[in-house]
Amino acid sequence: EQARQIQQTMAEFRLSKAQLLEVKKRMKVEIERGLKKDTHKEATVKMLPTFVRRTPDGTENGDFLALDLGGTNFRVLLVKIRSGKKRSVEMHNKIYAIPIEVMQGTGEELFDHIVYCISDFLDYMGMKSARLPLGFTFSFPCHQTSLDAGILVTWTKGFKATDCEGEDVVELLREAIKRKEEFELDVVAIVNDTVGTMMTCAYEEPNCEVGLIAGTGSNACYMEETKNIEIVEGNEGRMCVNMEWGAFGDNGCLDDIRTKYDQAVDENSLNEGKQRYEKMCSGMYLGEIVRQILIDLTKRGFLFRGQISETLKTRGIFETKFLSQIESDRLALLQVRAILQQLGLDSTCDDSIIVKEVCGTVSRRAAQICGAGMAAVVDKIRENRGLDHLDITVGVDGTLYKLHPHFSRIFQQTVKELAPKCNVIFLLSEDGSGKGAALITAVGCRQRDLAG
Ligand code: BG6
Ligand code: GLC
Repeated sequence: EQARQIQQTMAEFRLSKAQLLEVKKRMKVEIERGLKKDTHKEATVKMLPTFVRRTPDGTENGDFLALDLGGTNFRVLLVKIRSGKKRSVEMHNKIYAIPIEVMQGTGEELFDHIVYCISDFLDYMGMKSARLPLGFTFSFPCHQTSLDAGILVTWTKGFKATDCEGEDVVELLREAIKRKEEFELDVVAIVNDTVGTMMTCAYEEPNCEVGLIAGTGSNACYMEETKNIEIVEGNEGRMCVNMEWGAFGDNGCLDDIRTKYDQAVDENSLNEGKQRYEKMCSGMYLGEIVRQILIDLTKRGFLFRGQISETLKTRGIFETKFLSQIESDRLALLQVRAILQQLGLDSTCDDSIIVKEVCGTVSRRAAQICGAGMAAVVDKIRENRGLDHLDITVGVDGTLYKLHPHFSRIFQQTVKELAPKCNVIFLLSEDGSGKGAALITAVGCRQRDLAG
C-alpha cells in the first residue's frame, strides 16, 4: 500500500508523449506572442532582440575583456582573438565569489563589487593602463535597444539587488567604473549567456544557430528572421533572439502539469509566480522539488521514520552536484546513503531507494520538458526556412547538462522524438560564454569604427 501511494505521487511527474507534444505546442504559441508587436508587451516568453545579426566568420580580431555574471561562477576574462588562416583564441580568466549579501544588497554594492574584481584582475594580468573594449555577459532578461544598452526586465535565479530593475545595466557598470577612478574601459556589448554560448560554439561550427543553457537557470536563444521580430525595424537578414523561456508558464499555461510540489517551490522562492518553467527544469530548483516531495513523503510516514529533520527543512540543500551523484548508476545504495548522511539525513536502505527514485523522476521530467521546448524552437526555425528537413547545431552549456548523468541523454532523445523532421546536433561549449561575448564585442567595435 505504501509503495502504491509513493508511486501515485511519482506518477504526477511522468508525462506522456501526448503531454510533451502539448508542451511543445504551447511553447510555439508563446514564441509567436513574444515576437508579435501587439502581444509582445504582455507575452511571458519575451523573445528579446539581442542586436547580434550574425555568427562569427573568423575575421574577428583583437584583445578584449569579458565579464561573465549570473551562473555558478562570476568570472573576469581576457580574450585574445586572432583572425586569418591561423585564427586562434587565447583566454585567461579568474573566478570571483559573489557573496549572497552582495547578490541581494543594493545595486551600487553589486556593481562596485564587480568593478573591484575587474580591478583585481587587471592588476593580476599587469594591464591596468590598457583601455580595452569589454563584453558583459549578463545572464538575466534585458530589454535591448542596441548592442550596448540593456534594461534589466527582472532579476531571476538567486539575484535580488535593489535599484537595478528598469535600469540600463551597461550604464550601471559604466558609473561604477567611474566611481572607482582607477581605469577606463569601453563597454561595447551586453550579452546573454545563451547568446555567448551560441557564438562560442558557432566559432567552431558555423551551423550552430541555437544556444541552450541548462544550468542554474534554463534558457535558449536562436537566429530568427528579422522580419519576424516585429519590435525591431528592418526586414533583412536574421537576428539572435534571447527567448527567456524560463518564464514560460507564468500566464498559467502549464498549470495542468504543475504539481503541488512545484507550487511549493514557487512559493518558497525569491520571485513567486515568475519563471515557472525554469523552476521545473533548472539546476537551482530541481533539488528544491525533490526536497518538497521528500518532506511530504516523510510527513506521510513513508521516509526517514516519519521524522522531518532540520536539514530537510533547509532551502537549497540538494545542489545539482548532489542530485547528480545520487543518480549516478555506478553508485551503490550504500554510497547514496553516505551522501544523504553528508547532507545530515539519516536514512535506511529503503529510504535511499526511494530518494534515488524521486531524484530520477524529477530530473527526467526536467529533461523532457526542456526537450519539448527545444523541439518547438528547432521546428520553428525549420518552418521559417520552409524546409521539410532541417540540419542544425545547438551550442549547450550549464552545470545540469554537464554534470548530471542522465539529463543530456533524455533531453536529446526527447528533442528527437518531438521534432522528427530536424536532425539536431548538440555541441558542448568548453569555453563558457566569455569567448562568445568577446567575439560579439569584436563585431561591435568594428561596427563603431565603420560608423566613424
Ligand atoms: C557557463 C557560462 O559556462 O555556463 C555562463 O560561461 C553561464 O555564462 C553558465 O551562465 C550556465 O551554467 P551554470 O550551471 O553555471 O548556471
Ligand atoms: C535565467 C535568466 C536567463 C539566463 C538563464 C540561464 O533564466 O533569466 O537570462 O539565460 O537563467 O543562465
